[in-house]
Amino acid sequence: MSEPVTPVTFPPAFLWGAATSAYQIEGAVREDGRTPSIWDTFSHTPGKTAGGETGDVAVDHYHRYRDDVAMMADLGLGAYRFSISWSRVQPTGRGPAVQRGLDFYRRLVDELLAHDIKPAITLYHWDLPQELEDAGGWPARDTALRFAEYAQIVGAALGDRVEQWITLNEPWCSAFLGYGSGVHAPGRTDAEASLRAAHHLNLAHGLGAKALRSVMPARNSVAVSLNSSVVRPLSQEPADLAAARRIDDLANGVFHGPMLHGAYPETLFTATAPVTDWSYVQDGDLAAIHQPLDALGLNYYTPTLVSAADSSVEGNRADGHGASSYSPWPGADDVAFHQTPGERTEMGWTIDPTGLHDLIMRYTREAPGLPLYVTENGAAYDDKPDPDGRVHDPERIAYLHGHLSAVRRAITDGADVRGYFLWSLMDNFEWAYGYEKRFGAVYVDYATLARTPKSSAHWYAQAARTGALPPVTAAE
Ligand code: FCB
Repeated sequence: MSEPVTPVTFPPAFLWGAATSAYQIEGAVREDGRTPSIWDTFSHTPGKTAGGETGDVAVDHYHRYRDDVAMMADLGLGAYRFSISWSRVQPTGRGPAVQRGLDFYRRLVDELLAHDIKPAITLYHWDLPQELEDAGGWPARDTALRFAEYAQIVGAALGDRVEQWITLNEPWCSAFLGYGSGVHAPGRTDAEASLRAAHHLNLAHGLGAKALRSVMPARNSVAVSLNSSVVRPLSQEPADLAAARRIDDLANGVFHGPMLHGAYPETLFTATAPVTDWSYVQDGDLAAIHQPLDALGLNYYTPTLVSAADSSVEGNRADGHGASSYSPWPGADDVAFHQTPGERTEMGWTIDPTGLHDLIMRYTREAPGLPLYVTENGAAYDDKPDPDGRVHDPERIAYLHGHLSAVRRAITDGADVRGYFLWSLMDNFEWAYGYEKRFGAVYVDYATLARTPKSSAHWYAQAARTGALPPVTAAE
């Protein structure tokens, strides 16, 4: 007997989007005045990325953006989240803008608007101009001031036509993978520097939000995208609960504390005391970081399962963020990370849509009244074209169906979720994993750079057009 099918429907104004970032798709790294970012330097350093792959060409979006926007329109997307390459706009990370760099984004935005696709700009998706890293990078306070200047330049150039703005993408990764475990650019492994970086990223967010507002129409929305972890304790034992709280501070409170509440968690100071004295937090910084926000972006892939460390348990570093003998969790050497049970994606990340529901409900409580967006969610699979050149990815359809259903449940439970951005529009440079992990709804043949929408793209297009989730078998 077949079950009665209740279609999962969304509010009419719900935004159906897809996301990308500059270094992962643009290529054209030496064109029109662009200078290297930390990801150019890192990816060109032997041993840092799978197969030594770089974003030099990526998927050549810089030259193919018109076709890419037409493809988005064909897929019925209502919104597109992309990031600006800082060193394309301000090659030295300071001083006047390069108009040719800004012109690319003006053309992209105009193309999107002409196709009725709402642009959502992320100012910083991990590609710091190399010159600023050479001057100290995120552990240096001046980088936050430079970011505010850059935010003002881009806000003044595009604020008349782009309403949705995101200051930073996943500052946790910038700080702790970039300066702690070193698996991301700039590849430093210095626990104290990673906490300094976290503070200066927070400051950059606050100063950047203020700078944007000073040059943009008041109707525009300013947000930040956090990859807040859904931290689960392995048991209800006090030691495991304490481990979960510790990681919650280091993953979440370190950013949402100052951004949403104007304070770092006291427990964060205690836990990190052996690593840093936090003396770089200056008077007035917390007020500067605590800017009113118009929305909050949540990026979600998989939950985090922790316990108190037990040397008899394997997998202490199974935190899903790449191999390194340095931890991205300063002051948490006594915490063990475990693989969440269940099916996994190609990244080894367990598929758990309840985590997305939990995350949304947590921020509904943490930030009452603040509209939420899922600014990233998606899955990597080993997709391959069939003999007819079609790409079938039923696992991704199931993943999207599960996670969008979780979003819908959260809305029913009172969460104000305004939209969802699938990660990613198309296959692209997946950071240290190079091109071997395919997150796209659109397949990219890296030999020809031809784009082929996978069956998940057709499935998602139908959801976007109808505002309801098609059954998982619909587009196979
Ligand atoms: C997020 C990043 C994004 C992409 C996905 C898979 O952490 O923001 O660029 O790498 O993970």
